[in-house]
Amino acid sequence: MNAIEIQHLRVGYGDKVLLQDLNFSIATGEVFVILGGSGCGKSSLLKNLFGLYQPLAGDVLIDGMNITKAQGQERQNIMTRFGVMYQQGALFGSMTLLENVRLFMEEYTQLSRPEMDLLARCKLDLVGLLPYASYMPNEISGGMQKRAAIARAIALDPKILFLDEPSAGLDPITSADLDQTILDLAKNLGITFVIVSHELASIYAIANRIIMLDKESKSIIAQGDPRVLRDSSADPRVRQFFNRVMTKEVA
Ligand SMILES: Nc1ncnc2c1ncn2[C@@H]1O[C@H](COP(=O)(O)OP(=O)(O)O)[C@@H](O)[C@H]1O
Ligand SMILES: [Mg+2]
Repeated sequence: MNAIEIQHLRVGYGDKVLLQDLNFSIATGEVFVILGGSGCGKSSLLKNLFGLYQPLAGDVLIDGMNITKAQGQERQNIMTRFGVMYQQGALFGSMTLLENVRLFMEEYTQLSRPEMDLLARCKLDLVGLLPYASYMPNEISGGMQKRAAIARAIALDPKILFLDEPSAGLDPITSADLDQTILDLAKNLGITFVIVSHELASIYAIANRIIMLDKESKSIIAQGDPRVLRDSSADPRVRQFFNRVMTKEVA
């Protein structure tokens, strides 16, 4: 079964259409990566997928349930199936890592404090941060902050995780650590990942499948295995994208 199905989706704000008639699906357990130039609407698409913004048209089905139409309890049910790490996905600076992870549990569960603490420690352990549970966000590195944000995003055991440019601003080694965390969570917990990314090394490391969005045509210009696209896409825009990023990486 597909974790997410996108049907005739139009992404934008008011009169401004960023992407139109998008149709694609994301399989359960897949690490799915969304590519595309700056400003083409990747973050906006992601926000449509997890229901923060209503799309201009079309439908998004999560585990078969239509998030664009659901209301009340049904919407609440869908919302608990996924976790989100935003592009500016900062932790709450005045709380420890443990408190950051516990926050959603306090809001959405009836667990006791010791139960929440135990679970929050488990989540921190999953991303390799258990020894830092009592640290404040500004006491740890940028890469650790990203991993802590992932621990917070999995606080409620989501089936799907949306990450917007998780490795932005990280050096290659820290970025590779984060990729490994993502792969571990996909493999060990069966979480479906939907990730916006620019980093080619990261894309090859984690992506089962990608789609590439194009600002001009407001549509998907490539989809599939990133290596196959790199080696055999007939579309010069696709080749240019992979080559541009590669040139930047070598430099
Ligand atoms: N809440 C919003 N209201 C109106 N326009 C927005 C909003 N969020 C983003 N935009 C605009 O939509 C376009 C695409 O933004 P975004 O989805 O962030 O692109 P990307 O993530 O691909 O860089 C940009 O021109 C941006 O200014
Ligand atoms: Mg963005």
